[in-house]
Amino acid sequence: MKYHITTMGCQLNENDSEKISGIVENMGYEKTEKIEEADLVIYNTCCVRENAEERLFGKLGELKKQKEEQGTIIAIGGCMMQEPHILEKMKQSYNYIDIVFGTHTLHKFEEDLKKATEKKIKIRDVIDIDGEVIEDLPIKRNDKYKASVTIMYGCNNFCSYCIVPYVRGRERSRKPEKILEEIKNLSKEGYKEVTLLGQNVNSYNGGNEYKFSNLLNDVCKIDGIEKIRFISPHPKDFTDDVIESIANNEKISRIIHLPLQSGSTKVLKEMNRKYTKQQYLDLVDKMKEKIPNVLFSTDIIVGFPGETEEDFEDTLDVVRKVNFEQIFMFIYSRRKGTVADKKENQIPEEIKHERFEKLKELYDSRVSLNNQKYIGTTQRILVDGYSKNDKTILTGRTDSNKVVNFYGTENLIGKMIDIKITEEHKWYLKGEI
Ligand code: SAH
Ligand code: SF4
Ligand code: F3S
Repeated sequence: MKYHITTMGCQLNENDSEKISGIVENMGYEKTEKIEEADLVIYNTCCVRENAEERLFGKLGELKKQKEEQGTIIAIGGCMMQEPHILEKMKQSYNYIDIVFGTHTLHKFEEDLKKATEKKIKIRDVIDIDGEVIEDLPIKRNDKYKASVTIMYGCNNFCSYCIVPYVRGRERSRKPEKILEEIKNLSKEGYKEVTLLGQNVNSYNGGNEYKFSNLLNDVCKIDGIEKIRFISPHPKDFTDDVIESIANNEKISRIIHLPLQSGSTKVLKEMNRKYTKQQYLDLVDKMKEKIPNVLFSTDIIVGFPGETEEDFEDTLDVVRKVNFEQIFMFIYSRRKGTVADKKENQIPEEIKHERFEKLKELYDSRVSLNNQKYIGTTQRILVDGYSKNDKTILTGRTDSNKVVNFYGTENLIGKMIDIKITEEHKWYLKGEI
C-alpha cells in the first residue's frame, strides 16, 4: 500500500506531517511521490492566508475522480479543518472524503485510518479544545542531517490578523526532558542541525522556572549537534537571558528570525503586537551589540486595515535600518473570526499589491549589496547534497541560510565543512573547499 502526503503550511505543519508519515509507515504504507498511484492521499492543510482554500478545494475535485476509479482513501487534516465554516463545508459538500482530522487529533490517526479502511466509515475527527501534549508518536523525518523539533504547541498572542490561536489552541510546552531526549536521539542517529519550533518559542515554559534560555543552554550541551536554530520568537518576549544564551553559545545560529509585521507603531498597536517601532529597533541594536555578527530575517505584512502611506513608509524605514538578510513578505489576508477582519477600513487590493511590490523592490535592490560581505570570507556549512540543477555540484547553506554551491565529492554530504566564498549570484553564493 502506498501513501502520498502534501503539506501546505509552516514548519510546525511539516513536523506534524512527519509524524503522520511515521504513523502510516508503521502501519505498512510506503511513501510515493506520485499521487495517482497512492492508495492513501493525505493533505495537511494551512489557513493562515486565504489562497490555500482555493488550492485545496481544486485538488479535492480532482481526487474525487481518482477515488471513484481506484478506491483511494482520502484524508484531509491540519489547521484549515479547525475552522468551523470549513468543517461545515466538508460535511456538506465533501462527504466522499474518508477522514477529516484536526490539529488536536493527530495521535488518533492510526485508529481513524483503520476505521476508514476496515469498517468503511467516514471519520470526522475534529475537536475544538486546547489539546494535550502527546509524546512518543512515531516519526518519519524528511531530512537525514537536519531535524525539526516542536517544543511548544498553540499560541496565546492573538495578533489581530492571525487565525493560528483559533486553530491551534492555547500554548502548551513540552517537558524539557522529552525535548532533550529527542535531540540526544537525533544526535545518535547522525543529525547535525536542529530547529526548535513553536509559534512563540521564547514564551516556552518548561515548568519550575525553566525557560527558553535554559532550554537553549541545555540543547547546546548535546554532543554531535553542531547547529541550533529556532522559529519563531516574538520580539516582546526576547528577554536578556535569551540574548545571553545566544551570545554564549557558538552553536546557535547567528541569524535570528525576528518577525516585524509592521514598522508603524500605530499599526503594531492595532495588530496587538505589544511593541513599538522604537522598541523593535532598540532590540535589534541591543542584539547587534551583544551578539557579534548577528543577522536578522523577518516576516512583514503589507496592507493591514487602516495602514496609511505614512505607516507603510515606517515599515520601509525599519527595513532600511535593520538590513534584513531575508524577508518573508505577505499581503494582508482577511481571516474569518479574527479582530482585524471586522475592521471597516480594509485596504483596496490594488494598494496592497502596490505596497507589496514596493517592499519587494527595496529588498531586491539590497540583496546583491548585502551578499558582497560574504566574498572572501570562510563559511562553515552543512553539506546538504547535490545541487538540484547540476549533479556535479554540491550545495549547502551558510549559517545565515544562504545557498552555497561548490565542487566536491559525495563523501562530504552530511558533514560540516569550511568553504571560502568566491562569488555572489544574488540568490546563491559560489565557493571553494
Ligand atoms: N507565530 C509566528 C508565525 C505565524 S504565521 C510569528 O508570530 O511570527 C507566519 C506569518 O504569516 C506571520 O508572521 C505573518 O507575517 C503572516 N500572517 C499571519 N496571518 C496573516 C494574515 N492574516 N495575512 C497575511 N499574513 C499573515
Ligand atoms: Fe499568529 Fe501572532 Fe501567534 Fe504568531 S504570535 S501565531 S502571528 S497570533
Ligand atoms: Fe498554517 Fe497552521 Fe502553520 S495555519 S502557518 S499550518 S500553524
